[in-house]
Amino acid sequence: MAYELPPMDKAKFIAAKRAVEFVETGMRVGLGTGSTAAWMVRCLGELVREDGLKITGVPTSSRTADLAREVGIDVVSLDKAKWLDVTIDGADEFDKNLNLIKGGGGALLQEKIVATASDRMIVIADASKEVGTLGAFPLPVEVVPFGWNTTKALIEEMLISLDVLGRLVTLRMNGRQPFITDEGNYILDLHLKRIGGPHQMAMVLNQIPGVVENGLFIDICDVVVLGYGDGRVELRDINEGTVQEEHLDFVESENLFTDMLD
Ligand code: 5RP
Repeated sequence: MAYELPPMDKAKFIAAKRAVEFVETGMRVGLGTGSTAAWMVRCLGELVREDGLKITGVPTSSRTADLAREVGIDVVSLDKAKWLDVTIDGADEFDKNLNLIKGGGGALLQEKIVATASDRMIVIADASKEVGTLGAFPLPVEVVPFGWNTTKALIEEMLISLDVLGRLVTLRMNGRQPFITDEGNYILDLHLKRIGGPHQMAMVLNQIPGVVENGLFIDICDVVVLGYGDGRVELRDINEGTVQEEHLDFVESENLFTDMLD
């Protein structure tokens, strides 16, 4: 069945397809969460089913776990895998140092634990995720439900002394109820517009009682694989200091696309 993907989805798919080339048989692989990561899980599933790739996947959310099982990937907990060879995940923003904002999908806690427990973190993204300075995307902060209003007030007070342009803090909702993470927590979204000092912000936030984790991923990402709708792909490696450009050919009649329509 012929199906024309929108350019943004093509870009996400291209990034995902190139990123799974980093995965080899025998690897323990962290599986990210979000629409770009879902492409990656589907691409990995195809390699498992059709090319005999043998991997163990550690999902970063219940959504990703469901999808991974559905496409044929063996799934284990991080406790069982202990340490991972690579994690591939999406991001809401990345800067030139490959520092990230993550958590738009509400999975930042498991995503950060899994990425930190990996030899390598590869981020897959389309060009809209690249920023000069982090912060246009609201920074997600996972907080325990107990006393969340007090935690919010403490965060607001802390923001007064930090280099940011906005200080609005909102509770993430799911309809009329607070959004609940896989760990049973709430998410506060910090509308900062600009984060002048992401290292300091990440450290200070995690010192506030009630904060479980924040969505700043500092010095965690090793490689960004940036996909474009026309098949171009750019690999930026922060450790090697290299930027590599490639082109991927793809046909939209691949099973992956028809699977998407089911
Ligand atoms: C989920 C995340 C996602 O990786 C991030 O929100 C990007 O998602 P998408 O690929 O759908 O744009 O951090 O918590």
